[in-house]
Amino acid sequence: MRTMKATMTIDKEFKIGEIDDRIYGSFIEHLGRAVYGGIYEPDHPEADEQGFRKDVIELVKQLKVPLVRYPGGNFVSGYNWEDGVGPVAERPRRLDLAWRTTETNEIGTNEFMDWAKKVNAEVNMAVNLGTRGIDAARNLVEYCNHPSGSYWSDLRMKHGYKEPHKIKTWCLGNEMDGPWQIGHRTADEYGRIAAETAKAMKWVDPSIELVACGSSNRLMPTFAEWEATVLEHTYDHVEFISLHTYYGNRDEDLANYLAQSLDMDQFIYSVISIADYIKAKKRSKKTINLSFDEWNVWFHSNEADKKLEPWTVAPPQLEDIYTFEDALLVGSMLISLLKRADRVKIACLAQLVNVIAPIMTENGGEAWKQTIFYPYMHASVYGRGVALHALVSSPKYDSKDFTDVPYLDTVSVYNEESETVTIFAVNKHQTDVLSLDADVRSFEGYQVVEHLILENDEVKATNQYNRTNVVPHNNGDAKVDGGKLEANLPKLSWNVIRLAK
Ligand code: AHR
Repeated sequence: MRTMKATMTIDKEFKIGEIDDRIYGSFIEHLGRAVYGGIYEPDHPEADEQGFRKDVIELVKQLKVPLVRYPGGNFVSGYNWEDGVGPVAERPRRLDLAWRTTETNEIGTNEFMDWAKKVNAEVNMAVNLGTRGIDAARNLVEYCNHPSGSYWSDLRMKHGYKEPHKIKTWCLGNEMDGPWQIGHRTADEYGRIAAETAKAMKWVDPSIELVACGSSNRLMPTFAEWEATVLEHTYDHVEFISLHTYYGNRDEDLANYLAQSLDMDQFIYSVISIADYIKAKKRSKKTINLSFDEWNVWFHSNEADKKLEPWTVAPPQLEDIYTFEDALLVGSMLISLLKRADRVKIACLAQLVNVIAPIMTENGGEAWKQTIFYPYMHASVYGRGVALHALVSSPKYDSKDFTDVPYLDTVSVYNEESETVTIFAVNKHQTDVLSLDADVRSFEGYQVVEHLILENDEVKATNQYNRTNVVPHNNGDAKVDGGKLEANLPKLSWNVIRLAK
């Protein structure tokens, strides 16, 4: 096996920015088996008194998910939130036009807030700007956040929830630029309704933070113009603009597949530029941050989904089974988010359970971890603090769609309080070890606590129910001596090098 060399310098003064915990958010949509058969399965032996699966709660807690986007996704654009509150027996069954299934409404806002509490997460609540609008949105804020003494807050209390839910982060609709969306709009139409809805929602609760819809991905024909127009309308009323992206190795071209984190980098830089262009145009002091509230790999299940019977309850939709190579790209995508932690303040891995998810469940059976569980968990658990710029020198490659792709993808996180530094690194080389020399002199007295590695000889290796093939080990060889860190990063590997004083 050959070895290539890479060098880097990290310094506690090279700060990118404070990492907002919400960058490790995720997403539960009323889609497939995410809710029914995922987080909620009342007949399951592990179900708690509310029907929530305790084994799933346990795995979500392992991921330390700080924020969960809910209830959609495409689903939200046809959702009447009022269907999901009050006595369960009286809730209507509805056709969900987004996913062509039947929604029973057994789980709604209050139950989901209970579940979120159980996993120690905040909720990022989306309002319906497809079939609904200002009125339903402001009423939902009143129902959730107003203490008492008004129609909707008193109704919440009547439903058994004395205390307001105090939901801080809200999405103004979902992917409104996409023709697949119920109530798809032009940028001007959406910008106007989003601004007016934002005003009304904040008049109910001025403490909330709002996310306006950006493009559904960078290839949308309206991309860039959409963001600019939407922000022209909403700049003074929102805190965030959203980004969504999903990748897939459709052409069986691993080098090109792993290079797609460069596309994500470019997407982030572009949206920052557009937001700052509108800032300049408006001579505004305010900065709009980014909410990358859907990101992941999604392609494995596309064909299977075409064969599903319509109008069933909780069919197995979007159940991608992830490979080892997918976990590497997810690792690189996490690095892309952290590299712009100064502006990406919210991100949601889409999604969390069963639907393009790190956690899978068998109905009536066990819950298990997909390959992508590990990089996501490592980043969420060890990646809190300040993101640091790394001065990196790495060999590079060209692929079908990308040039100058560094084999070494890396970012570091410094936590001043706990006196720890974590280096996240992916080696994208398919045959060679990357020998890394890092100058860490500014971290005097720091030693390696652990060098975790996710590697596998089979790029298509997957985990399955009762079969775990892809799991990290901590036999990495990173060591620090005289302010210099040396580590061998195996071919195709995700690495977490943890230093502490
Ligand atoms: O996460 C799955 C779907 O992807 C979401 O419902 C939608 O917003 C996006 O297109």
